[in-house]
Amino acid sequence: MTLAPLRILTHGGAGSKNEYKDGTAVAAKSGLEWLCQGRPVLDSVCQAVQVLEEDGRFNAGVGSHKRADGSIQMDACIMTSTNFFGAVAVVEGFRNPIHIAKALCETDTRFLAGRGAREFALEKRCAPFPLNPPEKSGKACDTVGCVATDGKTFAAGLSTGGTGGAPSGRVGDVPLMGCGLFAGPEGAVAATGKGEAIAMNITAYRAYQMIEQGIHPESVLSTVIDWFTEDEDIGLLVVSKLGHAGGSNRSMAWAFDSSS
Ligand code: GLY
Repeated sequence: MTLAPLRILTHGGAGSKNEYKDGTAVAAKSGLEWLCQGRPVLDSVCQAVQVLEEDGRFNAGVGSHKRADGSIQMDACIMTSTNFFGAVAVVEGFRNPIHIAKALCETDTRFLAGRGAREFALEKRCAPFPLNPPEKSGKACDTVGCVATDGKTFAAGLSTGGTGGAPSGRVGDVPLMGCGLFAGPEGAVAATGKGEAIAMNITAYRAYQMIEQGIHPESVLSTVIDWFTEDEDIGLLVVSKLGHAGGSNRSMAWAFDSSS
């Protein structure tokens, strides 16, 4: 079977309701439209993640859940197989942390946290988020994500409000290269779930290594899920030259879209 060169997958986080699939489908469609217009995969992934950050039903962007102290702190990351990487952590007061991560890709700095990320975002005129946090706290569905390809380049992006109710300043897997995401010449991986377990497993990079070995994304997905205990939420999107896969050991809204 010939695979469409333009392919994109989005998710609304491990634990997100399957009935929120409409939100992930809209995000995938939006990113695919950008791919069809010939825009870079980096921009298209950023666009899809932006749609998810603005959906409000997922734990990212305007839907981010509160930390234990009532603050909203977000992490985001984006990476391509062409050596672009940008990550931000503990960002407060912005609508679309993925835009800040993407803006970092155009600089010599790869990762900014806290006040430095905020100052950089203001310099780059990223849209501030009028802090009117939704009344959401406690354990939440986790992270939004996207992987995509235009047939040559692979990219992945993630954004999260972190684990709801976690201590202020806690950072999970999302901004850590090879943990929450990885993109290389053979494919891209975006993880979601319990950040500490995802990081300890170096999940995305080890999943990518399986892609390099020629293992189909469906087998990569089932192998990765087996690395985690029943108590540890894990979800994954995988796209490679062989195909794609998405799934979780919890409910998870996710979508795939493609075009020739
Ligand atoms: N997977 C997102 C987090 O643990 O922060």
